[in-house]
Amino acid sequence: MKILVTGGLGFIGSHTVVELQNKGFEVVIIDNLSNSSEDVLKGIVAITGKQPIFEKLDLREKHAVKDFFKKHTDVSGVIHFAASKAVGESVANPLLYYENNIASLVYLLQELQQKPEAHFIFSSSCTVYGQADVMPIDENASIKPAISPYGNTKQIGEEIITDVTKVSNINAILLRYFNPIGAHPSGEIGELPIGVPQNLVPFITQTGMGLRKELMVYGNDYPTPDGTCIRDYIHVVDLAKAHVVALQRLIEKKNTDKVEVFNLGTGVGSSVLEVISSFEKVSGKPFPYKIVAKREGDVTKAYANTDKANNVLGWKTESSLDESIESAWKWEQKVRSK
Ligand code: WQD
Repeated sequence: MKILVTGGLGFIGSHTVVELQNKGFEVVIIDNLSNSSEDVLKGIVAITGKQPIFEKLDLREKHAVKDFFKKHTDVSGVIHFAASKAVGESVANPLLYYENNIASLVYLLQELQQKPEAHFIFSSSCTVYGQADVMPIDENASIKPAISPYGNTKQIGEEIITDVTKVSNINAILLRYFNPIGAHPSGEIGELPIGVPQNLVPFITQTGMGLRKELMVYGNDYPTPDGTCIRDYIHVVDLAKAHVVALQRLIEKKNTDKVEVFNLGTGVGSSVLEVISSFEKVSGKPFPYKIVAKREGDVTKAYANTDKANNVLGWKTESSLDESIESAWKWEQKVRSK
């Protein structure tokens, strides 16, 4: 069976391609290279020795999507990562997000619903919960009104998939990620933010390399032990492995519903200052930061209840925060040494 990975040259996508290949799947990647580069392909091959098929394609081109499925008739498993994902950018340019994240999904599903059977894994996010009322967050937590168009596209995407599975042979698993960080231990692939990193860990590692003067910590007067926000930082390789387990669950028909939902996190909450301390431990040097005003749209706390992922999906994380931060730091040093 050939598996399509959309956005397969991206951060989480490329790590998932590696884990799919490790499990013997043939992989075809679609990526429009808007937030990645073909060099990532070399990194994947360097790790697995296997060349995935790569098709540069923009999923907003409906006919290109149709032509792709005419060419690759043996694709019946899809892991869909391709989407715009910057919260701030989505507020400034909502239509970019609604077109890219929603139209692409619709065109993909239109092709899959023609098939006698299709397995669909969707890249969703804990952002759908907003500020959840109870910690840790389980899959029954209420879906709060989205605070950004990015988050709204994830909520709408989940609803579209749910509706389509009711009238097609598509079975789906929605994976709600917490905060993916780190890089493959080989140092061959990792996160490659374009421009100034919006996310915490790549900003920290770039600061560690002297590319940034200091980290701005967005607020330290939240109702948390040290006043900074708490998140669930999950190693990207652990996250990638969860996608393969979820796909195998659908292939082996172990799913109990047409749509299943799993929160993917470590179950451990870490504050911004704790992440900084982890980096200082890993890098062996003091880290420059200053406290500034809160960032619009940030929730105070978000960390996962991992019971369902552990006990139903049969997956759990293996890496600690320090190990994840260490892998991110190793990757940053390697990228900057090229
Ligand atoms: C983490 C913490 C910031 C940068 C978002 C999306 C989520 C997913 C991951 C796509 C927060 C603080 C950050 C900085 C800081 N996106 N921070 N200074 O906002 O939890 O999640 O990215 O898959 O869907 O919502 O991640 O890394 O931006 O922030 O103090 O320069 O670090 O305030 O508390 P976030 P983040």
